[in-house]
Amino acid sequence: MASTKTIEIVKATAPVLEVHGETITKVFYKRLFNQHPELKNIFNMSHQKQGTQPKVLANAIFQYARHIDQLDLLKGAVESIAQKHSSLSIRPEMYPIVGENLLVAIKEVLGDAATPEIMNAWEEAYGDLAAIFINREEQLYNEKEKSLHGFRGQKEFIVFKKVAESNVITSFYLKRIDGTPVPSFIPGQYVGITLEIPGTSHKHTRNYSLSDAPQKDYLRISVKKEKGDPDGIVSNYLHNNIETGDTLSVGMPSGEFVVRDSNAPVVLLAGGVGITPLLSMYKALVKNPHRRVIFIQCVLHSGTHAFKQEIATLAHPDVSSVHIYSAPLTTDTLGETHDFEGFLSKEILKTIGITAESDFYCCGPAPFMANALHLLDELEIPTSQIHYEFFGPAEELELV
Ligand SMILES: Cc1cc2nc3c(=O)[nH]c(=O)nc-3n(C[C@H](O)[C@H](O)[C@H](O)COP(=O)(O)OP(=O)(O)OC[C@H]3O[C@@H](n4cnc5c(N)ncnc54)[C@H](O)[C@@H]3O)c2cc1C
Ligand code: HEM
Repeated sequence: MASTKTIEIVKATAPVLEVHGETITKVFYKRLFNQHPELKNIFNMSHQKQGTQPKVLANAIFQYARHIDQLDLLKGAVESIAQKHSSLSIRPEMYPIVGENLLVAIKEVLGDAATPEIMNAWEEAYGDLAAIFINREEQLYNEKEKSLHGFRGQKEFIVFKKVAESNVITSFYLKRIDGTPVPSFIPGQYVGITLEIPGTSHKHTRNYSLSDAPQKDYLRISVKKEKGDPDGIVSNYLHNNIETGDTLSVGMPSGEFVVRDSNAPVVLLAGGVGITPLLSMYKALVKNPHRRVIFIQCVLHSGTHAFKQEIATLAHPDVSSVHIYSAPLTTDTLGETHDFEGFLSKEILKTIGITAESDFYCCGPAPFMANALHLLDELEIPTSQIHYEFFGPAEELELV
């Protein structure tokens, strides 16, 4: 726990950080990658170019500064960052590197305003925050290592099957290269995957949700081919270059976007490739004969409609799926290929007959998420019943 003096100074400098936070983190990242280019292997360098990651880190540090005397309020945020860090195998020895570069960046941007007293307070405060993450992440690594077929860090997996699910989504079926069974996971969780791409100066790490049910003898990821060149780098490489027999480094499943225990009906709201964690949840939910499940899948048209058959074969009287096309092809037929046209709307949700006591799980691109969360708010669904995952820095959602 930081000293009273440190708390006072950090809280007093929080407004200054709010003004300069983003500049500080930009300076910080530039310095960090100059001094430690090996960290480019784990950070998403496209996020750096887009500027989303500096915003996210600035916001996290600003929130910490504001709540340094009420750290309980940050528990939820700390947990989701620790889950993300653990999926990427962030190690304790990386924290002092980040700390040193952050402090130098604060000093550089604030200049004379950053007195030795302020700098000392921030050094102590950063150390405390780092200790919170290091402890929680070590707990997670330890639990995962001890779980059945679990491990620490990343292991080599071999792609033994590659299946095109639609024009844009392809699944990769993965097994441990040494024959050890794959670890279990909770539907909704994701893994960190690292690969080398010839012609690039560093490795690339990305998160991918596990799209099949747990307790199989493989893990499956399903990847959307992003518009690329030069970006969209990992998804294009996976689609174009990774074939059966190739290997990938894969971390332990992580994340807290998982179905809460309850008997309430469940509505799964998927936009595009956001279907992946929800499909895994769906496969687990359909085994519960007493829980009503509605799977709402929003895609452009039949060409981008992935997993249609896989979902349909699991339907039973309490489980149904609905397909909404926002840009149907001329060959698509309403009532046959899809149930509704346009974007997800209040009218569609009412026609489907969703009930207000349902639990909602949503995943999709930023505009889809913004629309879905807005609709649920208009329908007065309590926020405690709404859960979502976003495939990018959480902050990006607020930028829509
Ligand atoms: C928890 C989690 C789970 C995920 N699960 C899945 C999943 O199941 N399936 C899946 O396909 N993806 C998933 N993702 C997303 C995945 O991690 C990658 O972000 C995605 O594959 C894109 O990576 P990339 O290297 O191909 O694209 P990147 O090179 O990282 O680029 C990302 C996007 O940003 C755009 N872009 C890049 N640079 C710029 C720039 N300078 N200006 C403007 N735009 C730019 C690119 O065109 C591209 O569309 C998940 C992400 C998270 C965080
Ligand atoms: C106290 C220090 C730290 C804070 C406050 C912090 C905060 C954050 C936040 C808020 C995110 C975004 C989570 C999301 O996706 O929503 C994040 C992601 C990440 N963090 Fe940290 N972090 C810290 C330390 C570290 C360290 C020491 C490393 C390793 C060098 C690290 C590496 C990463 C990486 C690689 C990501 C994902 C970035 C991306 O995909 O673009 N972080 N962190």
